[in-house]
Amino acid sequence: MLKINHLYKNYGRFLAVNDLNLHVEKGELFGFVGANGAGKTTTMRICVGLLGATSGQVLIDGEDVLSNHDLLSRKIGYVPDFFGVYSSFSAMEYLEFFASTYGIRGAEAEVLCKDLLDLVKLSHKADADVNGLSRGMKQRMCLARALVHNPDILFLDEPASGLDPKARFELKEILKNLSSMGKTIVISSHILPELAEMCTSIGIIDKGQMMLKGTIDEIHRAASAASPLLVTVDDESIDAAFEVLKQIPVVQQVSSQGSLMKVVITGGKEDEKAILASLLQNDISVYSFTRQDGSLESLFMDIVGRRKNENVRGGVQ
Ligand SMILES: Nc1ncnc2c1ncn2[C@@H]1O[C@H](COP(=O)(O)OP(=O)(O)OP(=O)(O)O)[C@@H](O)[C@H]1O
Ligand SMILES: [Mg+2]
Repeated sequence: MLKINHLYKNYGRFLAVNDLNLHVEKGELFGFVGANGAGKTTTMRICVGLLGATSGQVLIDGEDVLSNHDLLSRKIGYVPDFFGVYSSFSAMEYLEFFASTYGIRGAEAEVLCKDLLDLVKLSHKADADVNGLSRGMKQRMCLARALVHNPDILFLDEPASGLDPKARFELKEILKNLSSMGKTIVISSHILPELAEMCTSIGIIDKGQMMLKGTIDEIHRAASAASPLLVTVDDESIDAAFEVLKQIPVVQQVSSQGSLMKVVITGGKEDEKAILASLLQNDISVYSFTRQDGSLESLFMDIVGRRKNENVRGGVQ
């Protein structure tokens, strides 16, 4: 459905998007996560044709957005990160106005706009002035507005920012509903756990580069793999355990608090087994040996932080 190939975007000499590659299949709910300034809005604005790229390709259903935008605009819906409001429009009139820009008028527009207000749970505000809607309601109005032409793919730039927990929950339900209707959705946020709750796949962007992408299961597995081993040994064996661990190539860092050792490793299950075997072969009494539960937040911080500290190498303490 969406393919981004070797996308670059320069603002003057500043490189905001740096060789970004991404494939999103039809029907996916893709979460695009990155810190402030990572390049999410820039990438989305290029995908919807509002911004030119410096180089690279964005394909929607195999067609290049950058050269065929007019042709593709009907397939694309976009909810920007900041939205303007229009004075003296009721919610219903507001949607009818946008429907008319797509040539949908009269009874057809009325049915469509009522359905859309229902979809975003704003039917009770049909006659209310859009300026008087709460922030969360305005955000839902924008979503309804982006749906008037029944697009196949929707780009939502931080739609949950500034919403209270109840409004976030409602937004998630609406997006899951749209996803079950077969829409492909690309949604950005700077909070990985929030996206992980609803998305089918995730991409983490940092400084304009895609650092990690995968299905939600793969992201959870990566979070576990990024967590340290927690090993409790006999008090007498701590020094010997340090010596043994230091010799193992996948061990990046070891620290201890009392008899609890925290061991940062680069490998997976097989490496964990080999580490335990080495400790036991060296007559170290191991009382417990587990991998800390992987948190998505720490995975995200690890990826973003790793780049900030590119010159700092983990060493065995
Ligand atoms: N019009 C512009 N001119 C110059 N630099 C820009 C422009 N727009 C964005 N940038 C820069 O490009 C980088 C990426 O910005 P972008 O808005 O895409 O990030 P973002 O991931 O959407 O961040 P946020 O989470 O804050 O919305 C930032 O360093 C930003 O300062
Ligand atoms: Mg942004």
